[in-house]
Amino acid sequence: MKIAMAADHGGFELKNILKDYLEEKGHTVMNLGTDSSESVDYPDYAKLCCEKVVSKEVDFGILVCGTGVGISIAANKIDGIRCGLCPSKEIAALVKQHNNANVIALGGRFTSPEEGKAIIDSYMAAQFEGGRHQTRVDKIMALEK
Ligand code: RB5
Repeated sequence: MKIAMAADHGGFELKNILKDYLEEKGHTVMNLGTDSSESVDYPDYAKLCCEKVVSKEVDFGILVCGTGVGISIAANKIDGIRCGLCPSKEIAALVKQHNNANVIALGGRFTSPEEGKAIIDSYMAAQFEGGRHQTRVDKIMALEK
């Protein structure tokens, strides 16, 4: 799969670990930074990643900031994006199954590398269930208008 990834200074270390993990598994990762501990503003990186998702240059996006909260709030301001904050592998499956999330957000300061890998695996293995969830996703998307 093609995956866009971006992070702020609070998330770049986990982002890079997960990037290597995905590439080892044969996926193509578009790394949109940041790649250092120098302070940056997470909305800028949410935008860079989400643009690639909206334009369908990638299959989905992964965002990481310190908590995952700020970067997910920013992502969800962008038309076409449904970003789910994933503190666990169980929620990672549900954001795909119920919300059809096209971006997931992780907290780099609260997620170990092993947890992060499990979260990504769980999201990628899950399928959107449609049905009543499609109705709800349609209503979410209607809120953009
Ligand atoms: C940056 O210090 C921090 O605020 C950011 O990474 C994130 O946790 C915000 O939600």
